[in-house]
Amino acid sequence: MGFTTKVLHTRTNFKDAHNAMRFPIYQSAAFAFEKAEDLEAVFKGQKMGHVYSRSSNPSVEAYEQVIKEVSESFGVVATASGMAAICNTFFALIKSGDNILTTRYLFGHTLSFFQTLMDDFGVSVRFVDIQNEADIKANIDANTSAFFCESISNPQLKVPDFLAIKSILKTAHIPLIVDTTMTPWNIFDAKANGVDIAVISATKYLSGGGHVLGGLILDHGTFDWSKHIHLQSFYKKFGPNAFIAKLRSETFRNHGAALSPQSAYMLSLGLETLDLRVQRSCQNALHVAQHLQTKTQILKVSYPLLEDNDCYINASKQFSGGGAIVSFFLADKQNAYTFLNALKIIKRGTNVQDNKSLAIAPYHTIYAQYSDEQKRLFQIDEGMIRLSIGIEEVADLVADIDQALLNIT
Ligand SMILES: Cc1ncc(COP(=O)(O)O)c(C=O)c1O
Repeated sequence: MGFTTKVLHTRTNFKDAHNAMRFPIYQSAAFAFEKAEDLEAVFKGQKMGHVYSRSSNPSVEAYEQVIKEVSESFGVVATASGMAAICNTFFALIKSGDNILTTRYLFGHTLSFFQTLMDDFGVSVRFVDIQNEADIKANIDANTSAFFCESISNPQLKVPDFLAIKSILKTAHIPLIVDTTMTPWNIFDAKANGVDIAVISATKYLSGGGHVLGGLILDHGTFDWSKHIHLQSFYKKFGPNAFIAKLRSETFRNHGAALSPQSAYMLSLGLETLDLRVQRSCQNALHVAQHLQTKTQILKVSYPLLEDNDCYINASKQFSGGGAIVSFFLADKQNAYTFLNALKIIKRGTNVQDNKSLAIAPYHTIYAQYSDEQKRLFQIDEGMIRLSIGIEEVADLVADIDQALLNIT
């Protein structure tokens, strides 16, 4: 079955009393039981059921089941936001004294989370060159508990070779955790490319309209949890379900970042048209990127599927679309702001992968809390513009960009 057929026709475990075509929104914090013994059994995990929506909820579970099917995952946990998915994943896998490996090319708030880990929780975050196998190997030791990167880094648009990284991590029993927000299932098979855990901001492509926050944690079932330094006791009890069980019975339940039933419903709607929207925005983004390359005012254009991009080989062999984000560089802040303020259709705003095209200068916004020196290391430049290309007619986007560039020499 194709992606959209699966999305539309996956059956959930639940039988609705009225055979509703859409799974209802169970907007209830708690659930009542006929007998005290049944409540006890569900609390003890001996019986399936929902007791309290911070732990699980029928509408959220129905949405998780569809995601599980389309992603061919072993287990799925839906969270209140993409950041909640990232934080929960790490808090389930790390302890003080550990180190984790990652790259400097990350979404700004993920970077900020890692810096907090380092400073407040005694976990050292090692920034490695993820294109350099020797550098990765040299930074692994007995206390390395996780490796993290983004499938396409936001906003630098770096693309790693996942299978190459996976082959290094496998021998060291370290899970490969990838934020695949930029490359949903219809353009990237993360599981087949060695990703053990995918974390996703569902706020982006899944929602589509930018109307709801949500996150996802997917365990692809490819990592042997009996070998992870902190999950051995969970493995003894739950076998291959160790990571998901740790989330459900501790980390996720206790952190309280549950997805609301209403949001699960909205995200399920978004999922139905995901493929159509992603195909269109990827086509639009490639067209816009190629067009920007013809503009003399622009110093550099970055898009993974441009042939002159340094990640073109990795992107073209792993993805069937380059995603919605196009980054480009003007000479300085003044030019960047002249461009942004002249846009008439493309909106000035944060968020990505909305149906509407959006533009922002990351240096002065998302990365504002960082020093100039740090931003230089992250390759975030004063004149950088991040465009998130939506599903409008591409001729309108090109015309908007052209008129906005008119006052820049
Ligand atoms: C790549 C990436 N990961 C994670 C997040 C965080 O997601 P959320 O805003 O849903 O918490 C974002 C937000 O922009 C993102 O771009």
